[in-house]
Amino acid sequence: MQRVLTGIRPTGPLHLGHYVGALKQWVDLQDTHECYFMIADVQALTTHAKTPGLIERAVREVMLDFLAVGIDPARPNVNIILQSGIRELPELTVYLSMVTPFAWMKHNPTVRAEQKSLRGEVSTGFMYYVVSQAADILFVSPDPAVDSHNTILVPVGEDQAPHLRDTNRIAGKFNKTYGPVFVTCEPLIGDVGRLVGTDGQEKMSKSLGNAIDLGENPEELRRKVMRMFTDPTRLRSTDPGHTENNPVFIYLEAFDPDTEGLETLKGRYREGKVGDVEVKHRLLTVLDELLTPIRERRAAADKMDLHDILRVGTANACRLAAETMERVRSRMHLDYDHLGG
Ligand code: TRP
Repeated sequence: MQRVLTGIRPTGPLHLGHYVGALKQWVDLQDTHECYFMIADVQALTTHAKTPGLIERAVREVMLDFLAVGIDPARPNVNIILQSGIRELPELTVYLSMVTPFAWMKHNPTVRAEQKSLRGEVSTGFMYYVVSQAADILFVSPDPAVDSHNTILVPVGEDQAPHLRDTNRIAGKFNKTYGPVFVTCEPLIGDVGRLVGTDGQEKMSKSLGNAIDLGENPEELRRKVMRMFTDPTRLRSTDPGHTENNPVFIYLEAFDPDTEGLETLKGRYREGKVGDVEVKHRLLTVLDELLTPIRERRAAADKMDLHDILRVGTANACRLAAETMERVRSRMHLDYDHLGG
């Protein structure tokens, strides 16, 4: 089985954007792959270092969301893992950082964009989080001496592509310097790269107040859907409407399983034969059907021993990490096997 590693920063409960952009693919990969789903609590510190407790609460929310959407750690090939629980990762990060030109970090487009939004509060830890993410991925690398054609599959959103490119550059440089230790990683980008917010803004995000959480209760869901932005140029429901760049239709496109019905609805909207309210009611039905079972499974997960699930998955990851670090230390002559005396 090919290995899958992917991660998410725990900063709060997950929303519909996470579902279409990530979780949905993860659930499917469980049938075919050896999966490591990482809760990247150390990476969350790059932006949330000053609010202890927040990440712990978010880890709980994220685990409930994972279990609610159908991630199934009872399967032997599925592991939910906690980044800070793998003590080899900071060690690997430091070693990888020695072959990583600082210019790569400074020029990584995602780092640059995030750096701007931090408004000068850029810590050293933030500046090298891409190296840390390379370590997150590469620790599951099979031994290329045994399995050279293998790759690590990394299902992520489009914004993570620069990180995967840098991971491969770092691994390449490490292998060139010390000998083959790591295989390459390969992105798997979902069809819905990024979901707009309910207000049509570029991105769904808790801080922008335009997110629909996976655990959203039915009344809140209704309120949020009924307040969604539509076509701003349409004044009356008899005016011809635009379906493109229209958040309600973007969501229907992403979530409505009845594609034929959706095409008909779009046609009627363009001809001014259907009002916004009716379209929103359709979306509400679709989202209710999606979120009701998720909400139910979330309530069931609330009674599970989350600590134990995390402990078991992380222990499996630690075993892999220990093997990888033996290869790393040996290639770097850091195991001092030949010191003599
Ligand atoms: N940077 C990712 C995000 O913000 C989270 C992440 C951490 C990750 N480690 C990873 C993603 C390893 C893929 C692989 O969403």
